[in-house]
Amino acid sequence: MEKLQLAITTSPLEELPDLARILGLKQLLVKRDDLLTDDFGGCKVRNLECQLAHALQKNADTLLLPARAGSNAAAAAALFAPRFGLRLRALLQPQAYSAVAHRNLALVQASGAEIVRVAAGASLRIAGQVMTQEIERWGQQRRLHVLPFGGGDVDAAAAHVAAILELREQLSELAVPPPDEIWVAAATFSTAAGLAAGIELAGLPCRLIVIDVVDPPSCDEAAFVQKARAGAERLTGDEISSAALLIDSSRHSIRLAAGPDIGRGDISADLTDHPELLRLGLDPLYSQRAMASLIHEGHRGGSARVLFWNSGNSRPWPAGVARPKLPLSFDDLLTGPRPVG
Ligand SMILES: Cc1ncc(COP(=O)(O)O)c(C=O)c1O
Repeated sequence: MEKLQLAITTSPLEELPDLARILGLKQLLVKRDDLLTDDFGGCKVRNLECQLAHALQKNADTLLLPARAGSNAAAAAALFAPRFGLRLRALLQPQAYSAVAHRNLALVQASGAEIVRVAAGASLRIAGQVMTQEIERWGQQRRLHVLPFGGGDVDAAAAHVAAILELREQLSELAVPPPDEIWVAAATFSTAAGLAAGIELAGLPCRLIVIDVVDPPSCDEAAFVQKARAGAERLTGDEISSAALLIDSSRHSIRLAAGPDIGRGDISADLTDHPELLRLGLDPLYSQRAMASLIHEGHRGGSARVLFWNSGNSRPWPAGVARPKLPLSFDDLLTGPRPVG
């Protein structure tokens, strides 16, 4: 499978010794995908390496992406697509205000993406209707590459199969034993499905703990396994071996996320301001909730090695992109209370 160079580096593997001690873990590692490029990090950047290559292979000129207004997927696509001559047309649905959502929406606007407002409501159905209208409207004039909601497609899964192969190499270079568990946040489940397939392909003895931040869950076991296989097949280009790839359901577990509060449950101290966590720049909707779930597991008795997959973006505003004037033209897409001033 082709990938583009988005200046992605091997994301660092970092140890959190103090938190490991507090949680009773033998080791706590973090895969710092939040630092993937100098401009923007997170799972959506890995996805774009494959998605943009795919779009260019099809000779597309426009990426059509339905997403939430403050999503990392829209922000990353808006930033990177123009670098490869692709226009982004973002179909955005309202989302609750957060500082991260506001910054992402600002980045979409500042990067020159075309923004289409999509009504709230039964999100996927409405987004689907708008998508159909868009395809009818632009199908003759533009060469579209259409992504599903939040950019969660097979390329996204394939990108995360590759990410596990990267991890395996990194562990071997650092002479670090493979973790017993890998924890990751999920919404469309492309990231997690790719990691699950990667774990099987790489022969790593890890259990994947998938923390679903969407309630009710948007993915069942069968769909998860199908996505994992499709991701492996896309990466390896090998239908036979990936069809035979057994995605062992005892090796992953899908759980609903705990709330966003960090450091409650069995752990007595409130860990919200713990310096090891602060430096990860956890995403409030995703990685923070996955981390809260890990912490809510309580004290683990000192035997488990755990790797936390930091899937959000912790980079500051990208150099070279002028900040837009406030308020943003599409500010109404971010709903609910926000800080005064
Ligand atoms: C920061 C972050 N982490 C995790 C996820 C979940 O990834 P996926 O949609 O592949 O399940 C997302 C998706 O929006 C995200 O933005």
